Amino acid sequence: MKAVRFRRYGGPEVLEITDVPRPRPGDGQVLIEVVTAALNPGEIGIREGLFATMWPATFPEGQGNDFSGVVAEVGAGVTGLVAGQPVIGFAPRAAQAEFVAAGVSTVAVLPSGIGWDAAATIAGVGATAWASVEAVAPRPGETVVVSAAAGGVGSYAAQLAALHGARVIGTASEGNHEFLASLGIVPVRYGPGLEARLRQAAPEGVHALIDTFGAGNVDAAIALGVSPSRINTIADGRAVHRYGVHHQAQEQADDPRIWSRLAGLIAEGRLTVPITRAYPLHEVRQAYRDLGTRHVRGKRVLHVAPASRRQRLGETVS
Ligand SMILES: NC(=O)c1ccc[n+]([C@@H]2O[C@H](COP(=O)([O-])OP(=O)(O)OC[C@H]3O[C@@H](n4cnc5c(N)ncnc54)[C@H](OP(=O)(O)O)[C@@H]3O)[C@@H](O)[C@H]2O)c1
Repeated sequence: MKAVRFRRYGGPEVLEITDVPRPRPGDGQVLIEVVTAALNPGEIGIREGLFATMWPATFPEGQGNDFSGVVAEVGAGVTGLVAGQPVIGFAPRAAQAEFVAAGVSTVAVLPSGIGWDAAATIAGVGATAWASVEAVAPRPGETVVVSAAAGGVGSYAAQLAALHGARVIGTASEGNHEFLASLGIVPVRYGPGLEARLRQAAPEGVHALIDTFGAGNVDAAIALGVSPSRINTIADGRAVHRYGVHHQAQEQADDPRIWSRLAGLIAEGRLTVPITRAYPLHEVRQAYRDLGTRHVRGKRVLHVAPASRRQRLGETVS
């Protein structure tokens, strides 16, 4: 099968599409044919070796985590899953490959009507946003600020906070303001002067902050009087240390039952996952170059299954 691999730390140029043996499903596992794999900024840090002491690579190293796909084979002792079922999962450093093997308790079955591309993002940024929102527990009538609200985690988090009944202010560059407004989010420009702009957008005060970018967002919320118990950050370790704010992230929502709830919201049209661009597998280097700009509207994803296979499957789960 074809898989993304890299043989040394470096820029996108170290990424290769190589032929590797197809994994076999072990006891209690299923083999999944990957349709779409998500692209996440954290994967850039891993490939560049920035996290080598914490999470060292084993070369040739695989890449990608969250994915959507179809059960191709079931291993011994598997009940409740059959070949042909549409599923999502999280396969650390393995998802950007035509097939992955995964334990049955680490996959969720997809509802019909959900797009393969949107589904591929649930176990990564979807779960991260879920945990971030739960950490600050927005209540109806409250005002919640979400930083980088047009990004992968941010666009999920802003909509989830709104589903809790909160009025949501989202920070973004001007080009994403109309998009945020279309989701019912009040857009505010990020960068210098943020605190004053937030005061203006929320004269009655801000109750909670969901920070998905760092860069002083937590400092601004503290200055606005938001309690550290109502702040979550996934990108500012210094603020966690300094103020004792929450840092709930993907690990705290790494649960197929949560993924299923998110999939249900998307299939029902209550949660939108905009796809900025989908890249064919052979364009994986360009995909990561674009991802590295850190400007996006929703998600960039990788089409792992070839176009002919995707055509047979359709854009959405039937
Ligand atoms: N710990 C975990 O479990 C976990 C899981 C997932 C992600 N993360 C981390 O969470 C962060 C967000 O990930 P993501 O996937 O949502 O990123 P992303 O999709 O790349 O989103 C980037 C967003 O950041 C915005 N942005 C760019 N410069 C900014 C600035 N100076 N101030 C505020 N916003 C700015 C951009 O807004 P515009 O496009 O409008 O300019 C863009 O929408 C990353 O650091 C990632 O590594 C952690």
